[in-house]
Amino acid sequence: MVPLKRRKLVPSHAGNTGTNLSGEKVPAKFPQVVLFLLERKMGASRRAFLSQLGRKKGFQVEEMLSKSVTHLISENNSGAEVRAWLDSQDQKPAHLLDISWYTESMREGHPVEILDRHKLQDQRINEAEVEVFSVPSYACQRRTTLDNHNTTLTDALSLLAENAELSDEEGRGVAFRRAAAVLKALPKPVTSMSQLRGLPCLGEHSLRVVKDILENGASSEAESTKQSGRYNALKALTGIFGVGAKTADRWIREGIRSLQQLQDSGQTLNRAQQAGLEHYDDINQPVTKAEADAIGEIVERAVVSVLPGAQMSLIGGFRRGKLTGHDVDFLITHPEEGREVGLMPKVVARLESQKTTRNSYLESNDGPARPASNIDRFERCFSIFKLAKEEKRGATQPETLTENGVQILQTKPARHKPWRAVRVDLVVSPISQFAFALLGWTGSKLFERELRRWAGHEKAMSLSSHALYDNKQISESDVGGGDICTSWFGVHPTVREERLTRLLSPYRRTKRSPI
Ligand code: CTP
Ligand code: MN
Ligand code: MN
Repeated sequence: MVPLKRRKLVPSHAGNTGTNLSGEKVPAKFPQVVLFLLERKMGASRRAFLSQLGRKKGFQVEEMLSKSVTHLISENNSGAEVRAWLDSQDQKPAHLLDISWYTESMREGHPVEILDRHKLQDQRINEAEVEVFSVPSYACQRRTTLDNHNTTLTDALSLLAENAELSDEEGRGVAFRRAAAVLKALPKPVTSMSQLRGLPCLGEHSLRVVKDILENGASSEAESTKQSGRYNALKALTGIFGVGAKTADRWIREGIRSLQQLQDSGQTLNRAQQAGLEHYDDINQPVTKAEADAIGEIVERAVVSVLPGAQMSLIGGFRRGKLTGHDVDFLITHPEEGREVGLMPKVVARLESQKTTRNSYLESNDGPARPASNIDRFERCFSIFKLAKEEKRGATQPETLTENGVQILQTKPARHKPWRAVRVDLVVSPISQFAFALLGWTGSKLFERELRRWAGHEKAMSLSSHALYDNKQISESDVGGGDICTSWFGVHPTVREERLTRLLSPYRRTKRSPI
């Protein structure tokens, strides 16, 4: 394995110099004050940003702890934690200070007087009575647990996130999702706003929602969203397979707010949407793990029969240990590079010949539009699978059913139907990209987003469902020579994914659970 690029360490400045706004070295304005910002809990990017800010204001900020450092600045660390860290170093700066001293000094443009509240050693005593939480800022650095101690808070934030996503406001959606994920990672229920000081990803809006719930028992914004006609219409319409936020918004503007109104309107629906409407109730009912396993067996048999030796893995929420999901996701590959080419249409044809899938949408044909956020180029298929009800399973062939038209579920009670419709996603990857595909399709969506953000911002690497690149090597060689994982190709894919996950997510080595 090619060793990872070490973070570039800028040597400490010789003499008392700073950098002015044009980047030129200038004599430090405050020669008695030599600062060092502790990266622990602050994070590399924030530390770099704050250091740069200090230098611009004429402060001497050292990259490394040295004898000349007089003031150590830390964020979200207790005095005991910093002293424990200093024990492993040779240097003992005169002042151990909280970030508040630094930000106040930045604001004033000179080092402010050191007050008791700035000193790390005193902070712990003052805060002894309230437990202040602290979590790493990227979701991929946190262990996620199935025990959520703050469901009231996270439910409200998730609802607001969903509403933002349905309204095509991606940025706001991500902000609420991040805030919810941070609160979900806390070891105890939040009882006071002061416990949240210093937690990452809690923006002004999210904090307002939390405050509302702590003070009033519920978030008025979440409650009014839940009641709003627009939210309910968006939810009902996007519940149709093949209908995204944009289509739903267009229909709502045309006065369509319910399935009934959609049917009455005579809107032209594409093939996916027609099937989505037909199987609306089934598709909006959660899929269980048992159903996922039953589908897995059927798909695997079809895959192996059209390409012996092909391998299939369960991905998505079920791979993270979720007990239910909105669909079932599978990744297919073959140990011999290239053998997977053209596999998807064969698998789909095989499943259709068995009447197992009711409607399959190869993306290249007429599938639902792929979300703009998605950039991977794997061959995939969104399908609606016809799964025999439990008592019927085990029959050698699934039943053939030929009903058509959108009325079925309304006119035919579900209990007479010997099968249910389940959404199934299939993805095919070449073996050389399998590790990246497996990691990229395991989710959750926020975890993947954060992992990529962390790789980019903190490690200067680009991660996708296809590869991991060292950005520096790319810019130097300019052609794909930056794939640092090429030497892993001889390694078994599962081992490779484990290594990749360990490399990228040091805090999450064990089985992943949902965020
Ligand atoms: N994914 C993707 N591009 C898409 C859809 C999904 O890359 N257009 C990846 C994401 O990494 C996502 C994973 O596939 O996390 C699974 O997506 P999805 O089935 O939508 O979500 P799950 O996490 O499986 O949740 P659920 O159990 O509700 O299906
Ligand atoms: Mn899924
Ligand atoms: Mn899916």
